Amino acid sequence: MSRKKLIAANWKLNPSSKEEAVDLISSIKIGLNKIDLSSEINLTFCLPFIYLELIKNSLKDTQFKIGAQNCYFEEKGAFTGEISALMLKNSGIDYVILGHNERRSLFNESNEIINKKLSVVLKNNLLPILCVGETLKEKEAGITEEIILSQLNESLAYINCTGENIIIAYEPVWAIGTGKTCSAEDANTICKLIRNKLADLYNSSVAEKTLILYGGSVKSSTIKEQMEKTDIDGALVGGASLIADEFVQLVINSQNKK
Ligand code: PGA
Repeated sequence: MSRKKLIAANWKLNPSSKEEAVDLISSIKIGLNKIDLSSEINLTFCLPFIYLELIKNSLKDTQFKIGAQNCYFEEKGAFTGEISALMLKNSGIDYVILGHNERRSLFNESNEIINKKLSVVLKNNLLPILCVGETLKEKEAGITEEIILSQLNESLAYINCTGENIIIAYEPVWAIGTGKTCSAEDANTICKLIRNKLADLYNSSVAEKTLILYGGSVKSSTIKEQMEKTDIDGALVGGASLIADEFVQLVINSQNKK
């Protein structure tokens, strides 16, 4: 079945000013305007909260969507410093990354917390990009599959996945921001494992419909091969999404049909 591909840019904690954020998005927009962007690809920019509305405005004449990189699992109340899924929804935000490895490892987010966030994000009709992935230690111990399956089991517990309401991103931790890419073959094997797991947890139609992205040092030079794989439906792009020319080239190279 053909799934509409998604390239999600993850700007992380960048850039440092609104001016730089506007410059970056403007350069990307100009670059993408020059090409005939296929209707088979969606683009979303996952930004620091403080830039969401501003960049949403800059993109209002485009098809591009906006996403957050995190949110809290409560909707309102005494939770100093947090942002809720309800606030994101009410600000017209479309996507939210959940369970990124940097949240898991630096901010102690467990699968249980991610599961609570997923539940409230779905309640608010935002599209979550749920990240899973093994560390280098886990890979070397030969337990990659076990780790991915338990991340899925625990973060998807009691969650109703329709095939269209959740996007999964496979991001091997050892490939994030390191320049080391997982081979397209190996990435596809894990994306296929994820799809089979969705078929087990839900059914084969949900599994077939769900978008599964690969993330981890994706560049314009790697994307073509990755997108050609049967079970890779797009990419979650960190570093390369901060360089306008590189990101535009990455989007161009991602458009080759399977
Ligand atoms: P990277 O980041 O492309 O810089 O490796 C990907 C991510 O963390 O989502």
